[in-house]
Order: sequence, then C-alpha cells, then structure tokens
Amino acid sequence: MKRFMSPEELARDLRFKRTRSQNTLLRSLPDDVDEIVRIFEAIADKIRERVSGTALEAVYEDLGPGFQFLTASGGRQSKDERTPLQLRMQLHGIFVGEVQALEAAGRTLWDFPESPWAFHKDMARQCWDEARHVQAYEKLIEHAGGEVGEFPETTFLFEASCHADPVLRLTGVNRCLEGLACDAFRSLIDYGKNVGDDIIAQAVDFVLADELTHVRFGSEWVKEITRGDPDRANRAREFQRETEQAFSFGSQRELAREERREAGFSEEEMDEIEAWSAIAPQRATLVRAAEILRDRHRARKKEVSAEPLDSFEPR
Ligand SMILES: [Fe+2]
Ligand SMILES: [Fe+2]
Repeated sequence: MKRFMSPEELARDLRFKRTRSQNTLLRSLPDDVDEIVRIFEAIADKIRERVSGTALEAVYEDLGPGFQFLTASGGRQSKDERTPLQLRMQLHGIFVGEVQALEAAGRTLWDFPESPWAFHKDMARQCWDEARHVQAYEKLIEHAGGEVGEFPETTFLFEASCHADPVLRLTGVNRCLEGLACDAFRSLIDYGKNVGDDIIAQAVDFVLADELTHVRFGSEWVKEITRGDPDRANRAREFQRETEQAFSFGSQRELAREERREAGFSEEEMDEIEAWSAIAPQRATLVRAAEILRDRHRARKKEVSAEPLDSFEPR
C-alpha cells in the first residue's frame, strides 16, 4: 500500500463536494474594512462557484461574498446563539474534520513503520476513536435536520497531516487542530446545555473526552521524539505558530483552558496561542466588511430585478 498520500487522493462518495480551503487568504487579510471589501469583491465569482450546488448557495444569494463572517463559520462560536443553518454548518464542518482525522491518524500509523510500537498503538487507538466520532456527528447532523454533503468539504485537516516529519504531523493535527476542536466542542456543549439540547451536549461531551487524549498523544510524542534535538523542537514550535495563526481569524479565540491544561498545554503556551491569534484581523473589522459586501450585493440584485424587461431584448 502506498505511503504519503496527497489530499486529492482521499476517496469520497458522490454526496461530497470538495472545495479549496481559504485559510491562506484569511491569514493574509489586513485589519482594514475597505481593503477586505475590495479583496472579496474581486474574488466574489470564485466564492460563488465554490458554494454552487450546496446549501451555502442560498446563503451566498442572501448575504453576498462575505457571508462567512456573518455566519458562525468565522470567529468565535457563541455559546447560546446559533441559527439552524449555522448549527448545521458547524456540525457538518466538524463531521468532515472527523473523517479526515480518521484518515490522518491512519496514514500516520502507516507512513512511519520505524516508529516505536507504542506510537503505532496510540495512532490505532485514535483511528478507533475518530471512527466513532464520525458516526456521532453523522447522527448529530441528522438530529439538526441536515444531511451529509449539503456543505462543501475543505481538506485542511488532512493537509496538516501530509508532512514527511511525524513531529510536524503531530504538532499540526494533534496539538493545533485537535486543540482547536477542544475549544469548539467546549462551546458546543455549553450551547447544547443553554438551549436544552441534551443530545448535542452529551454526544459532544463524549467526543471531547477522546479529543483530550489525542491532544495528549501529540503533546507527549512531540516531547519524546524531539528530546535532545533542540532544532527539531524549534521547528515544531515554529510550525505550531504558523498553524495556529492560519486557523484563527476574528482574533477572539476563547481557549478551553481547563481541557487544554489536562491535555498537556502549559499556561505559558496557552497565553502564547492567544497572542498569536491576535495578529489576525479583528472580528469587528470582518463583520463590518461583510455588512458592506452584503448591502452592495443586495443593492445589485435589486437593480437587476428593477431593469425593464425590454432592455434584455436583442437589438
Ligand atoms: Fe475526533
Ligand atoms: Fe481526535
């Protein structure tokens, strides 16, 4: 069986629609309303193409190209507010993340045959957990009235697991992305409790317990593999900074400190992650830009529908 697989090779059935991740773009956005509006107007057609044929098409039609900053997919997830669409989007995003986490842990188990037995065993344990998470979120999507494939899938999680160095894989996937998942799951549990949805609160609580173990696998193996190799340890730290910055926009990240502490993050590291995230544009800037984009989008639609029919007739 082939080692070191690329994200394009991931197998999916016909329900899924693959799209390119926008994280590089988000990372490069300045904290400037006008500039963000200009950038998004320039790529509006591409964004429309990305969402066409999915449930996001209607959201785009309503809100325009900056829709993601007006829905829950950007910035901090609220503990007690989600529209049904926001909830379905979030559950679907987590679901595809779980599928990729299963694939990533499976590949990491397979790609490094020389690693210690205990490492293989931990990755196998993670595969087992992630398979269960895929099933749990598939059921939660159903519970929220959604369906698999209604939103496009980006492969950012699997991409973080494509490094040739296992230390960078564990840093990117287990420490950064699964750490991020802990923050999101914590807020989803609080949301479930606040709105009286015990199914969400309890199911996500079970998943979160496993994720803590996965983050701990990352913390412990990165420490173990880089022991006595400060250069490699520094590379891991640098990669962690890059990944944390790439995935935190809206700069209001609220870390699940208690859970992260349990998973091997020190107070110093958590302060650092919050400081790294603060470099991204402010949430308020993104929302303001998205409102301007929405108003222009709506005004344009009105203009088109107000044009007299004969203006479309051939001359
Ligand atoms: Fe998971
Ligand atoms: Fe996990």
